Amino acid sequence: MGQGDSPQKKANGGMEWVLRPLHRWVWSDPHRRAQKLLLFAETEADGGRDLARASELTEDGLLRRLYIRHALDEARHAEMFRQRGRALLRSLPAPAGASTFQANWLAPGERGLDDLRVERERDASLLAFLHLSESAAAQRFTAYSDVVSGDPETRDVFRTILRDEAFHMNYTVAQLKRVAPRNHGTKLWLARGSRLWKGYLRISTAVAGAMGAVMLLVQYFVLLPPFALLAKRGARNEPEGWAKPSRNERGSLTSQY
Ligand SMILES: [Fe+2]
Ligand SMILES: [Fe+2]
Repeated sequence: MGQGDSPQKKANGGMEWVLRPLHRWVWSDPHRRAQKLLLFAETEADGGRDLARASELTEDGLLRRLYIRHALDEARHAEMFRQRGRALLRSLPAPAGASTFQANWLAPGERGLDDLRVERERDASLLAFLHLSESAAAQRFTAYSDVVSGDPETRDVFRTILRDEAFHMNYTVAQLKRVAPRNHGTKLWLARGSRLWKGYLRISTAVAGAMGAVMLLVQYFVLLPPFALLAKRGARNEPEGWAKPSRNERGSLTSQY
């Protein structure tokens, strides 16, 4: 780890510590655990594909080799998560109700290159972003391996993957210093700002979704009932069955009845 990223590491570590009870709750349900592992498999595979693309784009031979190794690691992680998720699902009875809440914004997996457009990034900014992302993933996987201690097989998957994440975290910062010896600190701060902005957008989207659901519930239970009552009362005043047209309507040229 470099000096420039130690505050980030401390902040992440502190945040994971604060979130520990929530992680414990999120991972306590075995069905949710299995679903999350399968989701993590997708994000790891996605990150692997991005890195394979980055290896095609870079003109630096050493980085190309490292990106390819990194991509292979992420593909292996995807397979490990997938296998463990499926094994866990097979060992469980069918869930009583359809539970879809996975608290993904509270307990995400490795985000890799996330929404970054690999084509638009230069080596230094890509390495800075990757370093922060791998560092955050290492912090999270450490927390997850602790809270799933009651499920030793899942814990071992996290611990095995964690060793690779530590390598990813270290090689990205070492290479960043090599390709940007003068401004690697600036690159890290810019990448940090970009991650913060994306985090803000993720949380805002989740909050907006929750607020939208609350507003719809309020409309349904508070605004609609008075109209339903008025409609019922109006219907009660209407005569049932066939009604003779009123005298005014009978001779009207504007009515077809
Ligand atoms: Fe990974
Ligand atoms: Fe990784």
